[in-house]
Amino acid sequence: MSMSTLEKIGSDIWIAEGPSIKFLMMRITTRATVVRLSDGSIWFHSPVEFNEALAAEISELGTVRFIIAPNIYHHLFLGEWQRHFSEAELLAAPGLASKRSDLNFGRALGHETASAWPGEIEQMLFAGSRAFDEFIFYHRPSSTAILTDLIVNIRAEHQTVLGRLVARIEGVTYPRGRTPLLYRWSMKDKNLGATAIADLLAFKPDAAVISHGEWFRENATEELRQRFSWLPL
Ligand SMILES: [Fe+2]
Repeated sequence: MSMSTLEKIGSDIWIAEGPSIKFLMMRITTRATVVRLSDGSIWFHSPVEFNEALAAEISELGTVRFIIAPNIYHHLFLGEWQRHFSEAELLAAPGLASKRSDLNFGRALGHETASAWPGEIEQMLFAGSRAFDEFIFYHRPSSTAILTDLIVNIRAEHQTVLGRLVARIEGVTYPRGRTPLLYRWSMKDKNLGATAIADLLAFKPDAAVISHGEWFRENATEELRQRFSWLPL
């Protein structure tokens, strides 16, 4: 079974599907995003499980310069990818470096790192949750939003009976999957999250990639607006 081959989804942007994971009795697909910056280097977002075939395909696109860990939960496969792409700088959401002190982190994601890809990838911090903050991105050349865990959109037919029930309660069932209920409940300041999403929507993304479940190939601005309607946008 060929799990991971890159799929080109726009100008200088690709996705890679990884193996599914089990979480809260749900079967959840995983997806990474690969962007080629204008200098030819590679920006690798939220890596899926390591495999040599995918690594070889990414290497053919260019030298991996940045590996992005956008929130404190997407860290499982960073070590292997960094060992393979030894020139890459591992850029993590705040809090992850202390959680994974075994990994060799570079700078924390923030204003300084955003200036490393000026005019190509816009970066916003979705904050306000007791659970975790997440950096979200907008790739200008392809007009693509890149989100990680803030929207989940998984297929009911891939779930067990229990998994289907959990997905329905969490509100993450395709085609109407949105922000998981537990995360919505964790918000102590919805205005902070709303600011980040409003900034993202102002770019009018055509597509939106998410890490778990079916992503949005078109009409993403409207799709995101609906799925974040729980926020005071
Ligand atoms: Fe995730």
